[in-house]
Amino acid sequence: MCGIYGCCQRAKAAKSALCGLEKLEYRGYDSAGIAFLEGEKIEIIKSVGKVSNLKIKVGEKVSNIAIAHTRWATHGRATALNCHPHTSENFIIVHNGIIENFKELKSNISEKFYSETDSEVIAKLLEKNFDELSEISDINERILNSILKTQNQLIGSWAVILICRKNPLKIYAFKNKSPLIVARGKGENHVASDINAFEKREKNLLKYYNLNNRNIAEISQENIIFYDEKLNKIEIKEIKKQCEICQENCNYKHKMLKEINEIPKAIYSTKKHIKNSDFKKLSKKLKNYSKITIVGCGTAYHAGLYGKFILEKYLNKNVSVELASEFRYKTQIKEKNELVLAISQSGETADTLAAIEIARKNGAETAAITNVCGSSITRICDYVLQTRAGAEVAVAATKSYVCQILALYMLASSASGKRISRGIDKIANKTILSFSLENLKEFLGVKKFFFVGRLCDSATASEGALKLKEIAYVHSEGYSAGELKHGTLSLVDENSLVIAIITQSNILDKTLNAVHEVKARGAKVLIVSQFELAGEGKEILLPAAKEEIMPLISVIPLQLFAYHYSENNGLNPDMPRNLAKSVTVE
Ligand code: M6R
Repeated sequence: MCGIYGCCQRAKAAKSALCGLEKLEYRGYDSAGIAFLEGEKIEIIKSVGKVSNLKIKVGEKVSNIAIAHTRWATHGRATALNCHPHTSENFIIVHNGIIENFKELKSNISEKFYSETDSEVIAKLLEKNFDELSEISDINERILNSILKTQNQLIGSWAVILICRKNPLKIYAFKNKSPLIVARGKGENHVASDINAFEKREKNLLKYYNLNNRNIAEISQENIIFYDEKLNKIEIKEIKKQCEICQENCNYKHKMLKEINEIPKAIYSTKKHIKNSDFKKLSKKLKNYSKITIVGCGTAYHAGLYGKFILEKYLNKNVSVELASEFRYKTQIKEKNELVLAISQSGETADTLAAIEIARKNGAETAAITNVCGSSITRICDYVLQTRAGAEVAVAATKSYVCQILALYMLASSASGKRISRGIDKIANKTILSFSLENLKEFLGVKKFFFVGRLCDSATASEGALKLKEIAYVHSEGYSAGELKHGTLSLVDENSLVIAIITQSNILDKTLNAVHEVKARGAKVLIVSQFELAGEGKEILLPAAKEEIMPLISVIPLQLFAYHYSENNGLNPDMPRNLAKSVTVE
């Protein structure tokens, strides 16, 4: 879940690597480090905390080669010692991923280890293999063979960029399971863990390539050579980059707020572009699958809950939703003609990718709803539906969630021959514009939240609660309203705020029953609904729309509320503690 960046660029390599790191900071931000060639010497600078700290330490450096890393600690605390790059005598590496067998590998290496990380073993192992391959006289070949041998000994996930002191005018990159994109430019070449790291700034970058597992890239200022797992030179197909999306905060204080405000545009683009040939094929086949299982994590799982609601309603068939992290370990019951549909904003979530791999092994057809073109998930699924939310950088998923729901709604509608609702972007815009914090200020100090709803509103409730947990650090529960009285009600008291989402007329009264129950226990109540229910408690009145698409709309005030709660309490909603945007490790 770390971000890595490497580049070969005349004079500007260190500067570019630091800019790239800033774009990757959403992947981790507890420490950062860089190695760059200054004259004949390789400088290594590390810093605990954000990339901005590292930038100050590095200052303006003239360098042709650099590799850099922003960390989200998995093995070992966020200290300067654990911070990347990690080194051995000749190798300097940055790594994203987890080396599962690092303890075992360590026990076979005599060189002394200085950090608590699993990554350091990669540098040490490369060194060991480099020593053992001394019969290869050509240095470049010896480095490549050392990488090959090292990759064969590692177990786990990795994206690694390295500099070897014996050949410091090149960088080398290799990967397994963790993403790595190479960007070719004019007289400069770059590599990073995310295509968005190159966004906007690198006007000279012309072509992008997604490395396959166990591929190796040898990169210099002028050239890129790709190798397969046997060191044969290979061609890799170019991938297209989505249109440039402004990654700056523009006029917004935070990226999260900017991204919520981009929801109408994201809806518009997704609606316009999603119906590709995969969409058409899948919507035709959908009715015929004997079993449909949706998998995802976090917010994407909540989108899956909506998927179950809408597919069951429109297709009249059973759909199950599973957390990808559970799916991969549960008893697998193979069924003929099954579809496993994965939802993942990043397309890189390790648990979701693993669930898809298992589904494929079971013989199921697989489909992905993802926001990132060319991401790992797009390469393993039979059908790919791409949402067009644009780059989402804030850790909390907002516009991507709305687009996932839209994709599911459109898929269900097309499969069942129903007309797709018009003007959803405009309704979303109205919802954003009508949101007023003024009415909600009294709730900004509440420490106990319950979000309740029924049917698809229960998915929205879970998502609203997750937003508040992740960026405001307050305890919140998302619940099916009908379940309250089966246990949770005992927690409800006069210090609680119960946010009831009520958008489905057939269960309006039922959810109101829950509202009455909590009011009787002294709880404060906030209703989010298109129905005028102000008599029942404070209300956020939503614009009316077709009930099936209300979850696209009703989540927006919950996202905005979580944002303001976090901001009001002096937190940084874009970078919540302990979390990173894409979870590429298990
Ligand atoms: O990239 P993915 O959609 O696969 O990510 C899944 C979750 O990690 C993600 O939705 C997470 O829950 C968000 N930070 C929530 O805002």
